[in-house]
Amino acid sequence: MNLILLGAPGAGKGTQAEIICEQFSIPSISTGNIIRESVKNGTELGLKAKSYMDSGELVPDAVVIGIIKERLAQDDCQNGFILDGFPRTIPQAEALDQMGVVIDRVVSIEVADEKIAARMSGRRVCSKCGASYHLEYKKPAKDGVCDACGGELIQRKDDAPETVIERLRVYHEQTEPLKDYYEKAGKLRLVEGQEQVADTTALTLAALKD
Ligand code: AP5
Repeated sequence: MNLILLGAPGAGKGTQAEIICEQFSIPSISTGNIIRESVKNGTELGLKAKSYMDSGELVPDAVVIGIIKERLAQDDCQNGFILDGFPRTIPQAEALDQMGVVIDRVVSIEVADEKIAARMSGRRVCSKCGASYHLEYKKPAKDGVCDACGGELIQRKDDAPETVIERLRVYHEQTEPLKDYYEKAGKLRLVEGQEQVADTTALTLAALKD
């Protein structure tokens, strides 16, 4: 299954992608995680992307399309994949089509802007392995410490309230039109994001079956 997860920043795409990829034994590909890793390692891509990311803007299409082309060519994508955070613009979706990639289903996780701010302010990520937590909804066993690797939990720079407002603006302007794009292709399903992660997972899995 080739699946795209759409949704506003903080709607829960990453959380759902991690759960669903295990159930289907397919890789979850997050362009955000790939870019963050490059920033951490100070690569050429990271240097190009950092200022866009920190200010809540999208990294230029050509850069992100290049990342995805390379990633989808890897062996582990042959039996399917989940795209989390790509495409983010119409040109990115068109590039995917031009690569000959057939998408089976697009699920958009719908969460109102007002709820997003609270989710983002509570998110903490591991400074070492990137695992994601929430101060209220997904607490680590020990405060401030990653369950998976013992790394320090920090707040993402782009989770600052003013940057979240900009990310939401960019989402509505540039990413939301993708719902129309995939609706016309008959591939879109909307899932109402729930308070409990497991409830959103159940709705997402149902949307993959119908
Ligand atoms: P990216 O990392 O993709 O960020 P995003 O889309 O803004 O998504 P988030 O990771 O913030 O949210 P999410 O929906 O995955 O939510 P999560 O599951 O973590 O991109 C970052 C930046 O990289 C972009 O701004 C851009 O600069 C660049 N970039 C990336 N891809 C690009 C592209 N294709 N083109 C151009 N630029 C690109 O959940 C959020 C929090 O809520 C967590 O703490 C979680 O525990 C909690 N939570 C999750 N589900 C629930 C629930 N049901 N109830 C309560 N809390 C929940």
